[in-house]
Amino acid sequence: ETLDATGLAILPGGIDVHVHFRDPGYTHKEDWASGTSAAAFGGVTTVFDMPNTIPTVATPEILAAKHAIADEKAFVDYGLYAVLGEESLDHVEALAEGGVIGFKLYMGNTFGRIPSPDTGAMLELFERVAPTGKRVSLHAETNTIMERREKRLREAGRNDPLAHLDSRPAVVAVEAVERAATLAEWTGARIHILHISSKEELRPLAEAKARGVDITGETGPHYLMLSTDDYARCKGVIRVNPPVREADCHEPLWNALKDGTIDMIATDHAPHTPEEKTRSVIWNCDCGFPGVETQMPLMLTAVAEGRMDIRDYVRASSEAPAKSFGLYPQKGAILPGADADLALFDLSEEWVIDDFKLHSLSRISPWHGRKVKGKLKHTLVRGAFVVRDGALVETMKGHGRSVHTIQRMPPAEPRNTHKTIAAVTAAQISAAVTA
Ligand code: DOR
Ligand code: ZN
Ligand code: ZN
Repeated sequence: ETLDATGLAILPGGIDVHVHFRDPGYTHKEDWASGTSAAAFGGVTTVFDMPNTIPTVATPEILAAKHAIADEKAFVDYGLYAVLGEESLDHVEALAEGGVIGFKLYMGNTFGRIPSPDTGAMLELFERVAPTGKRVSLHAETNTIMERREKRLREAGRNDPLAHLDSRPAVVAVEAVERAATLAEWTGARIHILHISSKEELRPLAEAKARGVDITGETGPHYLMLSTDDYARCKGVIRVNPPVREADCHEPLWNALKDGTIDMIATDHAPHTPEEKTRSVIWNCDCGFPGVETQMPLMLTAVAEGRMDIRDYVRASSEAPAKSFGLYPQKGAILPGADADLALFDLSEEWVIDDFKLHSLSRISPWHGRKVKGKLKHTLVRGAFVVRDGALVETMKGHGRSVHTIQRMPPAEPRNTHKTIAAVTAAQISAAVTA
């Protein structure tokens, strides 16, 4: 079997550490077949799926059931997150053994309304997860502040799209990043900051890295390319947590991505239906929109425009996610990224994003009508075509496999200066709880 790749760029397949494929529970929005075919058409060969499906992934049994669904339907490789919260506290070790790619902790409320642990509970959860070596991905927004703000804005009768941004100012994210980094430093837990949306979050992230905290961060195309200028056009469609912010965040976020302060690009692919995104009351529009199929074309367009070097982009789309989550090839081993997970693009072909031609079930996004440069032609997952000549290879449904078994992360090391503080604090907390 030969392939003529004349004129095409061969890139490592994207690794998107942040998608919501909604299956089981919300399969009218997306399922494992539609979500992973969207990934394949986007050049993304590995996705990590979030636990806010029904039931929330909190026990080894629920995890095993979700693995079975994904194994049957997935076109690309995948990892599954379990939630890190009260409902999973006693299952942390079993979930790690059962093959989660990482844990997800919701510091702020969003779709699925998973409860947010308070700081003491978070400390206990971090201590529990650290010895497993697994990374904790954080939705870093502070719930208490946001809920009060949203209530006040609703009561004041605000119903314009920007009201959503006003309910979740950058300070909400900064406070959460700062607190998460401190708890990670005390406990040694590895952490990952999801969807960095503001220039303000960069300082606590950079400071934590400088202190030696094992912390990584991601941002998405919407925080680099959309701004408050797009709210009037998109209305509820642009509603996402955390919100798209002012255009003056773009430059600092691009710079952070280039210099590695922000390690990687991830999409927070969060499909909802047109009906769910266009309700008349802004507060009732579901948050999020699809992104897994458009990330590489959007970013390659930015590369073509000279915004970023292609080597920096590949680091952010494949190398850094693999390193951060334990999938990076070790000497002498054949591992994802080294086993022909490939995306072949025609970097000169221009096209216009059309929500109705994308493969997510969602059919609505703020990218509709946007001109991009870079068209995917072929996608290979472990050496096999899943997209060939721009068409899905239907027989590859079920080819996708969980990547969790590939490489075990060593237990995380607590930072010695804080080891005793962590022990004392945990003891005090359990004393207070049992008193
Ligand atoms: O806007 C969002 N949508 N933010 C999240 O954190 C969750 C996501 C979803 O699941 O819809
Ligand atoms: Zn989130
Ligand atoms: Zn998300």
